[in-house]
Amino acid sequence: MSIMKNVMYWAVLVGMAITLMEQGSPVHSQGDSQSDNKVMDNITVREGETVFLRCEQGDVVTHTAWLNRSSILYAGEDKWSVDPRVSLVTLNQEEFTIKIENVDMTDEGQYVCAVQTSSRPRTTSVHVLVQVPPKIINFSRDIVVNEGSNVTLVCQASGKPEPSISWKFISNSGDLASDDELLEISSISRQRAGVYECTAVNEIDTDVQTVDITVNYAPSVSEGRDAGVTLGQRGVLECEADAVPEADFEWYKDNRRIFNGFDDMEIVSTGSLSKLTFYNVSDGDYGNYTCVAINKLGSSNTSFLMYVVIEPTSSTLLQGPRAVQDGSGGAKAVNFHTCLLFIALLPFLLRF
Ligand SMILES: *[C@@H]1O[C@H](CO)[C@@H](O)[C@H](O)[C@H]1NC(C)=O
Ligand SMILES: *[C@@H]1O[C@H](CO)[C@@H](O)[C@H](O)[C@H]1NC(C)=O
Ligand SMILES: *[C@@H]1O[C@H](CO)[C@@H](O)[C@H](O)[C@H]1NC(C)=O
Ligand SMILES: *[C@@H]1O[C@H](CO)[C@@H](O)[C@H](O)[C@H]1NC(C)=O
Ligand SMILES: *[C@@H]1O[C@H](CO)[C@@H](O)[C@H](O)[C@H]1NC(C)=O
Ligand SMILES: *[C@@H]1O[C@H](CO)[C@@H](O)[C@H](O)[C@H]1NC(C)=O
Ligand SMILES: *[C@@H]1O[C@H](CO)[C@@H](O)[C@H](O)[C@H]1NC(C)=O
Repeated sequence: MSIMKNVMYWAVLVGMAITLMEQGSPVHSQGDSQSDNKVMDNITVREGETVFLRCEQGDVVTHTAWLNRSSILYAGEDKWSVDPRVSLVTLNQEEFTIKIENVDMTDEGQYVCAVQTSSRPRTTSVHVLVQVPPKIINFSRDIVVNEGSNVTLVCQASGKPEPSISWKFISNSGDLASDDELLEISSISRQRAGVYECTAVNEIDTDVQTVDITVNYAPSVSEGRDAGVTLGQRGVLECEADAVPEADFEWYKDNRRIFNGFDDMEIVSTGSLSKLTFYNVSDGDYGNYTCVAINKLGSSNTSFLMYVVIEPTSSTLLQGPRAVQDGSGGAKAVNFHTCLLFIALLPFLLRF
């Protein structure tokens, strides 16, 4: 009999609470003088924290309960909720307090304390707001594209309140690139290759991720500098290529490919630079060289001349007794200039 009464009682109480929910926001005072409904200030709690729900009692309370939406969490000291995070804190004449530990997003909503006194039922409702730090949940991976491609990067974040998103190009003094989830770069140039950073921020916290864009482009070689080398000396030709990915180098002499292992000669390529070194230049080494830089997007070449330089010896410098007699720096300078003129003309003389 008493069980039956209790069930009916709860049905009324729960019904009351549901009516409260359906009205959207509970009202402070209804025309019905049989009830007394109170709304407490919203409680804001961060995800993972504990929230305490406190409800005032009175000395003539016969039944009391805490409800989450339409389901009972606690009826007096009886736990109805199966959720282990929910527990009773205090139940006495003054207060009825329960707590929810490790709060998550789904716990957000209205909680109602329904109290039956000897005179009339009353409810106290409280809205629990759950805040969640931003978390970037969908983010572009590092990408490699060819110059001229259209690139779209995505950065989507969860969090409450909803985080705001911004993109920065941090390889280039951190310029703002976009304030949207999508960063769109049409026809990307090599200058826009580098690291981009997405920041998701709300009142609670910030989340940051970075992504790297590699822009591939065909090599372009710097113009070759001709090299004047004295017979029997060391001669070096340098070829520099700007390319992504880094170029492979090939060297040709008069259209014939040359390889490492040829006499007294070495090709060393490191990064963007390739060096062709002759340790002991012989007559046959003089001539026209071509450096070709190649990557998967294309190739580029430049040509150099290695020409003879007659080393200024004592005889070429001093040109006989007059200069010796003279003994002045002036004569030496004149002869040195003559020598330079010869060097400068040599490449042209060589062609004939
Ligand atoms: C409490 O939260 C609800 C739901 O977000 C909102 O509609 C209401 O304005 C808030 N009340 C106060 C006092 O902040
Ligand atoms: C409250 O109710 C919602 C919806 O049924 C549920 O997802 C959530 O886990 C409940 N929270 C507690 C603390 O009972
Ligand atoms: C991530 O964002 C892209 C682009 O908006 C979308 O196509 C994709 O479905 C998203 N992935 C997930 C897991 O949300
Ligand atoms: C890049 O986008 C532009 C429009 O913004 C379009 O006209 C062009 O065809 C696209 N290029 C590629 C390679 O998809
Ligand atoms: C350079 O080559 C010439 C001719 O083969 C040889 O006579 C000379 O000794 C070499 N010099 C050096 C430093 O190896
Ligand atoms: C060197 O060879 C390249 C390629 O064969 C040619 O284009 C260039 O004119 C030549 N340079 C000279 C100075 O002969
Ligand atoms: C060098 O480049 C020119 C065009 O710039 C091309 O015609 C020529 O075939 C190239 N030479 C080699 C050896 O790749």
